[in-house]
Amino acid sequence: MSVVSIVKRELIQTIFTRRSIRRYTADPVGEEDVKTLLEAAMASPSAGNSQPWRFVVVTDRQTLDALAEVHAYGKMLFEAPLCIAVCGDPSLSRHWVQDCSAATENLLLAVAALGLGAVWLGVHPEADRAVAVRKVLRIPESIIPLNLISIGHPAEEKEPRTQYDGARVHRERW
Ligand SMILES: Cc1cc2nc3c(=O)[nH]c(=O)nc-3n(C[C@H](O)[C@H](O)[C@H](O)COP(=O)(O)O)c2cc1C
Repeated sequence: MSVVSIVKRELIQTIFTRRSIRRYTADPVGEEDVKTLLEAAMASPSAGNSQPWRFVVVTDRQTLDALAEVHAYGKMLFEAPLCIAVCGDPSLSRHWVQDCSAATENLLLAVAALGLGAVWLGVHPEADRAVAVRKVLRIPESIIPLNLISIGHPAEEKEPRTQYDGARVHRERW
C-alpha cells in the first residue's frame, strides 16, 4: 500500500475514533498540542472565508470549575485540565454557526489524532447558558459562545465506530 493510501486510511480511522470522552486523567495538555488544536480549527472552511470564529482557551482551575457550575451537562469540566470555548462573531458572517461548527469538528478530529479526549458541550442557542458562559469568560456582547470543548488525556475508552445507516441515504432523488 502506498504512503498516500496509508495516510488516507489513518484519516478515516481518526474520524471513527473521535468519540465523546468525558473522563480525564489529571495530566495537563501541552501548549504545543493546544496550538495544534487551534491550527486544525482555523483550517476549517467558512462562508466567503470570513473565519468568524474566536476561541477562549481556559486552563485555570477556578475558571474551569466556574464553567462546570454553570453548564448543566458539563460537569466533566470539574475534572478537565483544558476547555476551549468556540465563539462566533455574527457581524462577520450570518453563517457563523456553520463555520464555527466546522471549526469545532476539525478541533475534535485533531484531539482524536493526538490521542487526547474531548466532548462538545452545547451553549448556543440556549440563551441562559450563553449568558452564563459569557459572564464567566467575560466575552463581549457582540460575540456568541457556540460551545465549550472539554479536553484532557482520556481516562475512559470508547470503541471507534461509524453510525452508518443506509436508510438515511437517498440516491439521485428523495
Ligand atoms: C451540538 C452538540 C451539543 C452537545 N452537548 C453536549 C453536552 O452538553 N454534554 C455532553 O456530555 N455531551 C454533549 N454533546 C455530545 C453528544 O452527546 C455526543 O456527540 C453524541 O452522544 C454522540 O456520541 P459520540 O460523540 O461519542 O459519537 C453534544 C454534541 C453536540 C454536537
